[in-house]
Amino acid sequence: MPSKPTLWITRKLSDNTMARARRDYEVIDNPDDRTFSTGEIVEMSAKVDAVLPCHSELFNADVAARLSDRVKIIANHSVGVDHCDLPALGARGIVVTNTPDVLSDATAEIVSLLRLGAARGGAEGDSRVRSGGWRDWSPSFMVGQQVTGKRFGVIGMGRVGRVAAMRAQGFGMEIHYHNRRPVEDFPNAVYHASVEDLIAHSDVLSLHCPATPENRGMINAERLALMPDGAILVNTARGALVDDAALSAALKLGRPGAAGLDVSNNAPAVDPGYGGLPNVFLLPHIGSATFETRDAMGFRALDNLDAFFSGSEPRDRLV
Ligand code: DGY
Repeated sequence: MPSKPTLWITRKLSDNTMARARRDYEVIDNPDDRTFSTGEIVEMSAKVDAVLPCHSELFNADVAARLSDRVKIIANHSVGVDHCDLPALGARGIVVTNTPDVLSDATAEIVSLLRLGAARGGAEGDSRVRSGGWRDWSPSFMVGQQVTGKRFGVIGMGRVGRVAAMRAQGFGMEIHYHNRRPVEDFPNAVYHASVEDLIAHSDVLSLHCPATPENRGMINAERLALMPDGAILVNTARGALVDDAALSAALKLGRPGAAGLDVSNNAPAVDPGYGGLPNVFLLPHIGSATFETRDAMGFRALDNLDAFFSGSEPRDRLV
């Protein structure tokens, strides 16, 4: 029987994923679930045929140039691949895959949580009850915004954006979106040809585009100023899409009225600007963190590896 390929699984994945991986590969795991420096990634690459990383491992152009020839495939456990320099890895002849589709439902659920958490002061309410800072019920206490009937704006009508829009329709929201081109299979959604036009017509603006070099910092002071009074910004995509300093300054002025952020720059550290703001609802990058989705992401990454090592084209090959 031919020997199993050696696979480095950089983080602690679901039990089902690990069991399947150990059945089919010689697995090098990370039981302590620590993160690795780029130097350690390069060093480890000499010992493995394949890597199954998360977005927490950086494969930039410098790392790509220094990876061992032994590594043939990087099968990401993520849909986002902004941690990978695809052209540089492709130039080294390394196949790169991701895990699209399987995390759309979980992430869209977090969009709903952030939308409501931001609209109704979820963070402030929780902290008041826990700290004993809630003394009496009053009709004028913690009055928030209702999202029913309002406009839900999506930047990037891809897989997650569409499911998020469908869930928002369940809240009676009107769907608006900006995309490279209009989509044909989302009836009743209003297309906006420019980001600016969408922003000006969104009561809740939700980001669903990749953090490509062109998109980095796309939500800046100028665009924040276009948001309607009381509007809410939701980000489950990548922190790099938002200029944190501009957003925290704008939130202090109440425009936008609130934000719900699952991602931010420099995570896990929080931008100091958000710390004291009652109109920000923050989560620690848990968009895809459900038991079901973690299994599905792990299996999808393993499916890609299995295809590669059996000589077929991996379904989610990017380069
Ligand atoms: C993704 O899949 O891109 C999520 O952000 C988790 O990495």
